[in-house]
Amino acid sequence: MNAATAPGKIILFGEHAVVYGRPALAVPVTQVQVSVEVVDSPDAETWIEAPCISLHTTFSALSPTHPLRAVIESVFAALNIAPFPPLHITIHSSIPVASGLGSGAAVSVALIRALTDFAQRPMPADEVNALAYEIEKLHHGTPSGIDNTVISYAKPVYFVRGQPIQTFNVARPFSLVIADTGIAAPTKESVGDVRKLWEADKPRWEALFDRVGEIVRAAKNAIETGATDSLGALMDANHALLQEMTVSSPELDRLVLAAKTSGALGAKLSGGGRGGNMLALVRPAEAEAVASALKSAGAKSTLMTVIQ
Ligand code: PMV
Repeated sequence: MNAATAPGKIILFGEHAVVYGRPALAVPVTQVQVSVEVVDSPDAETWIEAPCISLHTTFSALSPTHPLRAVIESVFAALNIAPFPPLHITIHSSIPVASGLGSGAAVSVALIRALTDFAQRPMPADEVNALAYEIEKLHHGTPSGIDNTVISYAKPVYFVRGQPIQTFNVARPFSLVIADTGIAAPTKESVGDVRKLWEADKPRWEALFDRVGEIVRAAKNAIETGATDSLGALMDANHALLQEMTVSSPELDRLVLAAKTSGALGAKLSGGGRGGNMLALVRPAEAEAVASALKSAGAKSTLMTVIQ
């Protein structure tokens, strides 16, 4: 048997503007993960089981553009293995779908690793990342590549589209509470809407993206120098810009407000927006109080993580 796992991820700063060349900061979230097992199939067909999305299907029944089919085909094409042997693939995930935690990219990365291990041809992280990026394009059209990069390398990343991976050091650990609105919001839609608005008024949107870029650079500096308390105000400022970009929602705004009024140092939506997750910067002693305030304000689930 060959098994591989991949973590979730969360964008700390810079979502959406990152699609337009500005930097963004993101970190892996190891509390949630995808695991994939690959074994020889007992029959002549390749079977895929993903109970978390109620999927039980043969490879040939998947549509040609289905991301799982695309991963399998692209891995064996990259390895020059044709035809590939009948497999039995099982995918388990604790990452909520379409919620900003990178579930699609994590499935791709874990599946690529499990398949290449099965073929006894493990790939280095940069090749896994390049393949996973191609699959991200099927998920949402014009991805920046941040999800597949953070998840393939499983490291904190200062990401600039098209540039080699840069990680960053965390001088002083800081605590986050992540809360899920429970609303599945496909990234493709919010990214597509932002693109239409950008096309209609490029000067205004480029200026907005520039302001996000400044926040991201200030946040990186704060994280690297241990000035983590100042991250709160930067999160608030980033959230305000995301609201201007039309990608927040009443539910996200309610959670951001609940976090702030219960003691968080700052809070913002994370990822594509319109639903999915938000995050709040907290002092460790206040994490429980903020998490319970978020639940009372409608969060479906919360998760606490320390970035170090
Ligand atoms: O919704 P997520 O976590 O997959 O994040 C999307 C981040 C965007 O900046 C909105 C899109 C992208 O491709 O970077």
